[in-house]
Amino acid sequence: MLSDKAKKEIEAALKKYPNKRSAVMDALRIAQHDRGGHLERSDMEDVAAMLEMNPVEVNAAAAFYTMYNIRKPVGKYHVQVCRNISCSLLGAEHIIKYMEKSLNIKTGETTPDNRFTLSTVECLGSCGTAPMMQINDDYFENLTEQKVDEIIKKLV
Ligand code: FES
Repeated sequence: MLSDKAKKEIEAALKKYPNKRSAVMDALRIAQHDRGGHLERSDMEDVAAMLEMNPVEVNAAAAFYTMYNIRKPVGKYHVQVCRNISCSLLGAEHIIKYMEKSLNIKTGETTPDNRFTLSTVECLGSCGTAPMMQINDDYFENLTEQKVDEIIKKLV
């Protein structure tokens, strides 16, 4: 269930769009932030009610985009390594394996202390600085083992 604060944020966001349903992605972003990093069914139902949409449509939008984490809590830091063509050609698979080793988890898992969740995603639109990853709202580009070590060290 959305907090009153999130509902007010969504109400404010609605003013930016020509109609309520156009705000679905923004509303889901607010709802996910409100939940602490993922979306529960009740959150999507609340968004659907506010946007006067069918809950199935809201669920479909959330399920399509990897930036939404549906019904599966993520760690404090959600590490999303791009594995699309540019990143793959420049070593994404190696970076993914290195992240798994560094965090001692497999892709799709969360560390026991709930600090890190490791995911792979498709193109994040930063192909010119491949290989890259996103951690929460920040991009980290031109990744090497050394850069990964520095980034993780700052977050531990
Ligand atoms: S292929 Fe990785 S950002 Fe585009």
